[in-house]
Amino acid sequence: MKRTGVVKVDPKRFLSDLHELRSFGASGVGKGVVRPAYCASDVAARRWLAGRFVQAGLRVEVDAMGNLFGLAEGPSLLMGSHSDSQPEGGWLDGALGVIAALEVARAAKQAGGPAISVVSFQDEEGRFGVTTGSAVWSGHLALAQADALVDHAGVALGEARQAMADMVTGDVQAAQFTGFVELHIEQGPTLDTAGEQIGVVTDIVGIRDMKITFEGQQNHAGTTPMHLRRDAFQALSAFNATLNDRLRNVVTPSSVWTIGHVSLHPNASSIVPGRVTFSMQWRDGDAARLGRMEQIIREVAAQTAAASDMELRYGPLLGLEPVAMDARLRAALEQGAQAVAPGQWRRMPSGALHDATNLSRLMPVAMLFVPSIGGISHAFEEDTREEDLVAGLEVLAHAVELLG
Ligand code: GLV
Ligand code: MN
Ligand code: MN
Repeated sequence: MKRTGVVKVDPKRFLSDLHELRSFGASGVGKGVVRPAYCASDVAARRWLAGRFVQAGLRVEVDAMGNLFGLAEGPSLLMGSHSDSQPEGGWLDGALGVIAALEVARAAKQAGGPAISVVSFQDEEGRFGVTTGSAVWSGHLALAQADALVDHAGVALGEARQAMADMVTGDVQAAQFTGFVELHIEQGPTLDTAGEQIGVVTDIVGIRDMKITFEGQQNHAGTTPMHLRRDAFQALSAFNATLNDRLRNVVTPSSVWTIGHVSLHPNASSIVPGRVTFSMQWRDGDAARLGRMEQIIREVAAQTAAASDMELRYGPLLGLEPVAMDARLRAALEQGAQAVAPGQWRRMPSGALHDATNLSRLMPVAMLFVPSIGGISHAFEEDTREEDLVAGLEVLAHAVELLG
């Protein structure tokens, strides 16, 4: 049995850094932040983080994507998450995992080991795709392909990443890391509803994401008879209603699908809209079911386009497969959870996507959750009780001692 209690994390220092990170892109609404990948507040936050890594005795490296590493000497356990946010995001999504990793790295250094490296991956929130920074770092996505991805405003990733060009040092080799551990908020209602403090993740769901376009005919909203219209909004509306009905045959209660972004052209009250491009995203823990959902989505889109005289176009299909967490890393987190929150933790799947999915291609990975108040995330209201944030940090410290 390993000795524990030597890596002494400092909750005050941890919470103070977490709040300081929130000041970059603070939205002014509650504790929310606006820090999408490569925007000024994201880059400023990464510069600040790099300074913190140096103060912690870590060597800063930044790869071409803007993934920011604080490296310990020699082989090390990698910990962290991401510091970019959704267009309207909470202060903890990603930030918690990065700052907790920094605190554990500092405490481990003071204790004389184990060696902990820290990372903040870029564009986990998918301004350009799905967990783009770690997808490129892990080899899941080629940099040239990533560069061609465009955000909803039409900006290409290859152009956006120039905002960090002066920080780039070069490639970071994965072979130096013995594994990856990520602390995150749950972002759902399970732990909060049960009054529990810690979730040890068993699996992360898979995801598919693509843009769909219906193109009809832009026309005058006063003079065009209803039966002659090729109205793109009406096509989207019919697609959505039919899809919800047809998916019922293949999904389970944990399957989810979302149309989260709609771009209607030209988006004016007196114009029959001629074109709509929308995001279609679906997630499930079963890769085969993801495939069946895709088939239905494509069938319904084709039928809708034919019935409403639309041209139909698809953007690239992006995705990640469901993955299971590593048994050894997970067991260390479970022991840590039992020590810090006896009887107040559970094993659970993750319905949110995380960088850990990409890293599982390269090394063993594991994840830990703390509760989200009211189950709210990807919203300014996102929050977690301080004692739960600290409990997550302490479980991490406990686990790295067991693993070290
Ligand atoms: C990551 O933020 C996700 O969308 O699950
Ligand atoms: Mn996240
Ligand atoms: Mn997120």
